[in-house]
Amino acid sequence: MAQALQQAAITRINAIQATSEEKRQALAQHLTPMETATLAASMFSDLKPDQQFIRCLDLGAGSGILSIALYERYDGHIETIEAIEADPVLATVCDAELASVGVPHSLTLGDALTGTPPGPYDRIVLNPPYKKMAADDARQDGLPCHSANLYSAFMAIGLSRLAEDGELVAIVPRSWMNGEYFAPFRKYALGEFSLDRIHVYGSRTEVFADTDVLQDTMLVRFSRQTQSETIVVTQSAGKADAVERREHAACDLIEPETLVVRIAPKENDAIEGTIASEGLCPSTGKVVDFRNRERIYDERPEADGVRRLVYAGNFPHGALEHPLPIGKPQWYRADDEASIRQLTQPGCYVVVKRFSSKEERRRVVAYPLKIDEPVGLENHLNFIHGGKPRKVVPLGSEALSRGLALWLNTTYIDDWFRDVSGSTQVNAGDIKAMPCPPLESLEAIGGKWRPGISQEEIDRVCEVLR
Ligand SMILES: C[S@@+](CC[C@H](N)C(=O)[O-])C[C@H]1O[C@@H](n2cnc3c(N)ncnc32)[C@H](O)[C@@H]1O
Repeated sequence: MAQALQQAAITRINAIQATSEEKRQALAQHLTPMETATLAASMFSDLKPDQQFIRCLDLGAGSGILSIALYERYDGHIETIEAIEADPVLATVCDAELASVGVPHSLTLGDALTGTPPGPYDRIVLNPPYKKMAADDARQDGLPCHSANLYSAFMAIGLSRLAEDGELVAIVPRSWMNGEYFAPFRKYALGEFSLDRIHVYGSRTEVFADTDVLQDTMLVRFSRQTQSETIVVTQSAGKADAVERREHAACDLIEPETLVVRIAPKENDAIEGTIASEGLCPSTGKVVDFRNRERIYDERPEADGVRRLVYAGNFPHGALEHPLPIGKPQWYRADDEASIRQLTQPGCYVVVKRFSSKEERRRVVAYPLKIDEPVGLENHLNFIHGGKPRKVVPLGSEALSRGLALWLNTTYIDDWFRDVSGSTQVNAGDIKAMPCPPLESLEAIGGKWRPGISQEEIDRVCEVLR
């Protein structure tokens, strides 16, 4: 039987090689490697003694490798596998593959978001396409919840087709687990189904290395029943590595209000506040350099309204240094109403990098900022202030901005972020949810900040806050 999967792995490689890069991108065709398909199938429960035959569904079936893995998992107990695929070429490959192994199946050529039969199904497996889904996409109306991405739309459709006690295993990015974009999906999935199992990879790139996916991939299992008391979390370094297994109380991994899902319990519950609940507000730097080419300069020009333009590279030792030869334009001309509105007004703030590369040691990197004249903060930065999204108000003191920067640079915060997000990107929504001690406590340690302060010192200084 394992032979069928070996054969499916060869079919997969042939299918990848026969597909143009354009088509692969257009339909987000990142076919699952054999090891991951086996892992996905192994995440399903064994059948109950009274379950003789099961009905299965494979959404966006590609060359059929997940269906084959399911078939091997439940050898002799499959009533049928319904495979849905939008690409006629892959649909033909999939149909032939399943037929050659003798899998009882039917193949639907079409759009999984509009053409999935009602089911219900006992086992659903999917590695859906990852692609943004527009809010006005006509297919949104047919979904159980609004979806920011095709992958969460596929998951929602799958969940809605589960039989009582039925299980769904999906290979998806980790982004659904946090942030506001996926809040409607989390409300639906975690409100009506049980999150049973999570598998995360230590290495971002390895799983789909041969199809260039640079996403953090995870596997997740939901079932149609009330939330199980515990959630099993497994982790491996790469797609074929040994698996580490932990079991946590569901209430320690699913945050009650935001429904953010963590992969490990919060280290310390002494901090109850968040950046948002402490009255702070993260915003994104307003100057988008590539949309302002005629307003930005490498050398300071002789013109009215020229202001400093600030990038992460302007904080080489933790404090603002400007201008600097960092390969980025350092000046911004703000001389009309619209461009002046993009400026950040004098005062104290904390700047947080929005992007890091996966090789970087930290995901969350923060700098205190004190400015005595307006500056342009480039769009690759977030900044934390004391106002509202549309009304920026500086922080109350320089000590607060320094104390908050120290806090956000702790190992505790970096670990917290990695537990809730698989992404290298830190969005304003992520910052809002970050644990935050009372502002007076942050202000009290502000004096300890200095440029170039080491990680050990930051962690030691901030110990009093926890
Ligand atoms: C990430 S690939 C995974 C394929 C296969 N399940 C696997 O694991 O190897 C996603 C698949 O969904 C298909 N697809 C994309 N959009 C679709 C849609 N709207 N409806 C059905 N299938 C779709 C793609 O052609 C592709 O085969």
